[in-house]
Formats: sequence, C-alpha cells, structure tokens
Amino acid sequence: MLVCHTINEIKSFIRQAASLGKTIGFVPTMGYFHAGHLALMSEAKKTCGVVVCSIFVNQLQFGPQEDFACYPRDIERDKRLAEEVGVDAIFIPSAEEMYPPRFSTFVETKKITDCLCGKSRPGHFRGVTTVVTKLFNIIQPNMAFFGQKDFQQAATIQRMVEDLNIEVKIVLVPTVRDKDGLALSSRNIYLKGAQRQAALNIPRSLALAAQAVENGERDPAKVKMAVCNKLTAEPLVEIDYVEIYSLPYLEEISLLQGEVLLAIAAKIGKTRLIDNLVLKVPDNGQSSPKR
Ligand code: PAJ
Repeated sequence: MLVCHTINEIKSFIRQAASLGKTIGFVPTMGYFHAGHLALMSEAKKTCGVVVCSIFVNQLQFGPQEDFACYPRDIERDKRLAEEVGVDAIFIPSAEEMYPPRFSTFVETKKITDCLCGKSRPGHFRGVTTVVTKLFNIIQPNMAFFGQKDFQQAATIQRMVEDLNIEVKIVLVPTVRDKDGLALSSRNIYLKGAQRQAALNIPRSLALAAQAVENGERDPAKVKMAVCNKLTAEPLVEIDYVEIYSLPYLEEISLLQGEVLLAIAAKIGKTRLIDNLVLKVPDNGQSSPKR
C-alpha cells in the first residue's frame, strides 16, 4: 500500500491508475479505524479497481468547544488495517498541505444542513463540504463511500455533488454496530464504565420506534416521544435531538409514510453520539426497519 503525505504524490498515483483505465474508489476518513471504516473500504474494494483512503482530522469541521485536540489518532494501526482490507493508497496530508496560509475559500450547502447536526453544530457541515470538495478535486474518484451512521453528512455530500456537477457516485454503506447494538464510532472510546451501558439506550430506543411503527403508529410526534422517554429513562443520557424527517431531503412531516429517517443525537458525559434508522413505512401499517 502506497502512503502519501503530499497532494502531488497522491495525484501522480491517481494519474497512473486512471491511465490504466481503473475505476477509482475513495473513502475519506478522520482515522482511528474501526469496523465501520473498514466496511466502507471493503465495499469500495468490491466495485473499484483502485481504492484510495484519506486520513485527515479536519479542524474546519470542529467547533471551538469540540474535541479536535483530543480526537483519537493511531496512524500506524490505521495503515496496517487499511492494508489488510486491500486499500491501494492512503493519503495522510498535514494541516498545512490542506490549508496553506492564505486559504480562504469555503463550500457551503444550505437547507439540508439547517436541521439535526447542522443545527447543533454550527459550521460543522461547511467544514465537511469544504474538505470533501478539496479531497474530491485531488483524488477525482469515480465513486466515494460514506457511512449511513452519518446520514445527514452523506445526504449533504449528495446534494453538493449534484449542485456543483461533481462527477462522482456517492455510495451509502449501512451502519456497522457492535454485538450489543451500539453503532461503532471513534468516539466510543471516550465512554467509561456505566456510560457505555447507558449508550445502549440509543440503539434500543431506535428498535422501540421501529416496533411502534410496525404496530401501526403513524404519528411522528408519538414515536419521538416514545424514543425520548426511553432515552431519558437512563439518567446519564442527555438528549440533543430526536427527529423524524422525510427522505431524501430531510423535510418535516406530520404523518409517517414512505421512507423516513429517525435520527438521534445524545450526550453521555462529554461524549456526543449520533445514530439513526431508516424506517420503511408501508401503506398496510407494517414497517420493516432498514439499518
Ligand atoms: P469519520 O468520522 O472518520 O468517518 C469516516 C466515514 O466512516 C464516514 O463516511 C462515516 O459515516 C463512516 N462511519 C463511521 N462510523 C461508521 C459505522 N459505524 N458504520 C458505517 N460507517 C461508519 O465522517 C468523517 O470522518 C468526516 O466528516 C469526513 C467525511 C472524513 C470529512 O472530514
């Protein structure tokens, strides 16, 4: 596996691969890999001739009170894991390489970022869309892979590539969970003792909502209430949001029908976790959850 730290190095690798007619698959990450990241790489490997992964902890997408400085990092382990799943090249730029001193151009997607994490973390998605645009311009991938766990992020990138005519197919990969149901996240290592157990109320409350919809509930307010009650039954859980929106544009709804997104953000101690479930609500009053 080729390890590149500069834009020129990775570009020359890409030029060579493209000249051989290979399909280029790209997995952008902030590192500290877990099975969720590796699932994106494996998925890319299945469909692309060459897989490139990036590791860059993007300061631009962290708020001033957020965990940029202590975001977990282990580049050596990440390199080993990426190589094991067959990644061909890994791009690990420095902050100066991505944001040289006079950097002053930003990419911002409106509307779809007004709700959920866009509302709770002002400026977050502007940081994400800016860095992903830069990475797309550098790598020029045919396909790019994003996890359903960060559903709004993937939806925002999809909106951005359509709006800006960026020629890349966005592939959404299902959320990978631990055996106990907790969605894998680099931030799970912050959870100590009872906090980890408390965090399980997040996937449990998603399951409870799926069950309510399956039992015929069609009022989003009632489903949200049931989810909130389940979450707050655990005193260590502090809700940031529990929302239900229509797909694919994340718009407010007053009736559950078609495909809808149930999204949760909650804090456990200082750790902010997110999770979601796409509910397919059939007309006959039965639903089948799609994770
Ligand atoms: P990061 O949090 O490292 O996530 C990289 C990719 O892994 C994202 O597409 C994310 O949705 C996916 N992912 C994380 N946990 C997952 C899980 N449990 N199952 C499946 N996929 C999962 O997301 C970012 O980095 C950054 O915002 C980035 C896009 C790299 C821009 O800086």
